[in-house]
Amino acid sequence: MLRVDNITVCYGRMEALRNVSLEVAPGEMAALIGGNGAGKTTLLNAISGLVPATGGAISWEGKALKGFAPDRICREGIVQVPEGRKLFPAMTVEENLVMGAYLPTVRKGSREALAHVYEIFPRLADRRRQLAGSLSGGEQQMAALGRALMARPRLLMLDEPSLGLSPKAAAEIFAIVRQLNQEGMSVLLVSQEVLETLAITVRGYVLENGAVAMEGPSAALREDPQVKASYLGL
Ligand SMILES: Nc1ncnc2c1ncn2[C@@H]1O[C@H](COP(=O)(O)OP(=O)(O)OP(=O)(O)O)[C@@H](O)[C@H]1O
Ligand SMILES: [Mg+2]
Repeated sequence: MLRVDNITVCYGRMEALRNVSLEVAPGEMAALIGGNGAGKTTLLNAISGLVPATGGAISWEGKALKGFAPDRICREGIVQVPEGRKLFPAMTVEENLVMGAYLPTVRKGSREALAHVYEIFPRLADRRRQLAGSLSGGEQQMAALGRALMARPRLLMLDEPSLGLSPKAAAEIFAIVRQLNQEGMSVLLVSQEVLETLAITVRGYVLENGAVAMEGPSAALREDPQVKASYLGL
């Protein structure tokens, strides 16, 4: 369904990604792990059209996406929850959510989508008039995820959704992502909670220095001595 084939991304002279390939099958939840600066965010941004990729190809349901503008990629159903949530702090929770349904293709159904988001996150419904900047970290992540859901994703890409959250808040977010996946949404999950992430995904990719160092079934990666040593502290 999503196929990234041999792409390279440069920031000036620096090669942030080198010949990276990755696939997410329909309905699958895949993991993307790797240390700080490995290129995880760059890869999501390249898929979203936020940074240009050179060489190779990115395709989605057989359609070539490389070079498309971010709004076009979003319209195709690929929606990213950015690292650091990136909410509009001076806007209310509800205003932030509605921004997620900005594209004309999803604006029509935004009332139903909003009701659905509030159903998933009752906490956001209680705080709908509160400024996003005054939410707790866990609530901000819910709002960022909710805003992405407003765009009706078929592939949801999450960039470190549990960063800075308490274990309880992180577990809540993971449980909801898992539920969305079980309802049929494809997911690409970037996370440094490696054990947790490999437990809830079927396939994983390990990025190191801008290249895919390892890939395979998540269960196998969890048992891999190199993964254990580098990412699980075992
Ligand atoms: N806009 C930019 N301009 C120049 N270099 C950048 C830019 N964005 C990222 N980089 C560099 O590209 C490399 C990969 O960064 P990226 O943010 O993709 O890593 P990451 O795996 O997401 O790391 P982290 O786990 O810390 O979020 C890093 O060396 C980073 O300094
Ligand atoms: Mg990152």
